[in-house]
Amino acid sequence: GIPKFVKIVEVGPRDGLQNEKKIVPTSAKVELIRRLAASGLSVVEATSFVSPRWVPQLADAKDVMKAVCNLEDARLPVLTPNLKGFDAAVAAGAKEVAVFASASESFSKSNINCSIEESLARYRAVCLAAKEHSIPVRGYVSCVVGCPVEGAIPPSKVAFVAKELYDMGCFEISLGDTIGVGTPGTVVPMLEAVMAVVPAEKLAVHFHDTYGQSLSNILISLQMGISIVDSSVAGLGGCPYAKGASGNVATEDVVYMLNGLGVKTNIDLTKLMLAGDFISDHLGRQSGSKTAVALCRV
Ligand code: HMG
Ligand code: MG
Repeated sequence: GIPKFVKIVEVGPRDGLQNEKKIVPTSAKVELIRRLAASGLSVVEATSFVSPRWVPQLADAKDVMKAVCNLEDARLPVLTPNLKGFDAAVAAGAKEVAVFASASESFSKSNINCSIEESLARYRAVCLAAKEHSIPVRGYVSCVVGCPVEGAIPPSKVAFVAKELYDMGCFEISLGDTIGVGTPGTVVPMLEAVMAVVPAEKLAVHFHDTYGQSLSNILISLQMGISIVDSSVAGLGGCPYAKGASGNVATEDVVYMLNGLGVKTNIDLTKLMLAGDFISDHLGRQSGSKTAVALCRV
């Protein structure tokens, strides 16, 4: 059976906005995060403390964090690629962080400019520092079914990286189909391999919707016992270092499906859609959520 409750991790303000051509003003990012938290989302990934030369869209991470860090409705994790980012995040008021490794050697190089092993060494240092501050660390694995350069990625590679992140202390491991190439045909064997080394309740799935496969992939993941799903309001996003990657699955579409299944999320779909309208208006385009587009016609 599928879980009775699903935790949604909203990644729009980070994964979404990091890939928008238009740089969104800090005040609009802050308002978006406030609205998302007010819709009932318990986790809203707020920004990244990465190099502003690599991701200029999130160069205002410190200001965003300072403005939202006292919000009480939601946890607001931020990405930290190294100790420099971790220290900056903590100084700005972050109470939770995420590190991001890859199951593909080529993608590791292009995304964070180091090998998988080097990244794991960096993340061990981040986890140690986080432990001293009692800060929970989430771990991402990218390219869990496919890589833009290497093509298909073996499930054993994903399981290896996921286990390393889990063993270094990450409380939750999010499995990212960065370029959205997965189908249930590739997602199932990948999850089987990872679930053999990390407990299912510690795993999240993170689908980009490039090929329109996200909802099928989420449903099959739920059937396999996963109960944490990452998504972006209005389907914002992508990854600047993964060519051809489109946005994450839209949070509205995930909530609509879960409502239909009778799975609880504690999210108010109407408030969520208003947050989606707010950011879509800002970006000057139609929402990437089919649910939001359909419901605004009725
Ligand atoms: P590097 O150039 O190898 O870093 O970049 P470095 O250590 O050699 O330092 C170079 C310069 O960057 C120095 O400045 C550092 O101080 C600075 P300089 O002395 O030249 O003026 N620097 C920093 N500045 C701010 N914050 C920092 C930081 N670290 C160093 N934390 C680095 C390595 C990791 C920093 C870089 O490659 C980077 O920032 N990459 C981030 C890329 C990124 O954010 N990608 C998107 C997120 S991952 C994703 O979207 C996938 C996911 O959604 C899951 C999925 O979909 O699969 C999570
Ligand atoms: Mg992503």
